[in-house]
Amino acid sequence: MNTQQDSMVHALQWTDAGLRVLDQRRLPEEVVFALCSDAPAVAEAIRTMRVRGAPAIGIAAAFGVVLSVREWRRRDLDRWRERVAEDLQLLAESRPTAVNLFWALERMQQELDRHADDPLPEIVALAERIHRDDIAANRKMGDLGAALLGNSKGVLTHCNAGALATGGYGTALGVIRSAWKKGLDNVYATETRPWLQGARLTVWELQQDGIASTLIADSSAAYLMKQGRIDWLIVGADRIAVNGDVANKIGTYSLAVLAGQHGVKLMVVAPTSTIDWRMPDGSQIEIEQREAAELLPQCYNNPDSLVQAWNPVFDVTPAALITAIVTERGVILNPEEQGIKSLQQ
Ligand code: MRU
Repeated sequence: MNTQQDSMVHALQWTDAGLRVLDQRRLPEEVVFALCSDAPAVAEAIRTMRVRGAPAIGIAAAFGVVLSVREWRRRDLDRWRERVAEDLQLLAESRPTAVNLFWALERMQQELDRHADDPLPEIVALAERIHRDDIAANRKMGDLGAALLGNSKGVLTHCNAGALATGGYGTALGVIRSAWKKGLDNVYATETRPWLQGARLTVWELQQDGIASTLIADSSAAYLMKQGRIDWLIVGADRIAVNGDVANKIGTYSLAVLAGQHGVKLMVVAPTSTIDWRMPDGSQIEIEQREAAELLPQCYNNPDSLVQAWNPVFDVTPAALITAIVTERGVILNPEEQGIKSLQQ
């Protein structure tokens, strides 16, 4: 599938040999692709964050199912469905918060169930459609979000919600890409501690497209807002509850509180595949805790150390703090009042 025209960055590439993933642990120093040729390799790439970002995780998992069916139909024709079920379970356990993972696996499972004999052509087509539809959704959201910005004097984004995190083009960064073409010129990005998605990925990705940006330490955000340099905070989402609460990268909630304090508007940009229609509000969303080693300096990382780390990697921003949720099916202004049910099909 040709995703080249959507962005210079195309982090997921489906080939006959398997799924090629741009290794996001090695950016920006090295641009290296890893080949995942079976489902466990895809699950591992998601778990170790070679592939990351909610929509990209869902797309990768869909291709993981394709790889599984392809392999087990060849190796174990009698029990291939059992083997595929094991791989589906492995993929589902790779990360807990982004609902796009479960959304994609459910769609793949339904397609598998629909075909008694050889489902391979149909499930390849479905995985490719999930990928293609995500790019189309991003482009649509880019236009809708850019229109909302008007003549914004500056925007701040958090984490990486770009081409790297999606099928291509990006959600929050898709809006910034589209707005950049219309004259936006002050783009700020947080470092996004502790994994530094902003410092390592977002500013790198923007640079690939010739978009200038200014990196700030997460702790500079209040001062930036106080100085009146930005009027919108633009972020992606990992899971949106039915009442409009949004789980996203740790620190989004802090930024949302700061934005409210300083009259900065908050735009959440996410495809409808990020909405969890079974989740009434954000309080029940599972928040992934990652290893202490991702946060702790090496010297504390031993059994005798008295220093621990608490490393939740997402938080939940209440709908009341959100100005607009932008999806490919339209924009919800003031989600706390409007609710998001009008997006359900
Ligand atoms: O831990 P990560 O890097 O997978 O977290 C990613 C985010 O929180 C993104 O903002 C979100 O997935 C939206 S990506 C379009």
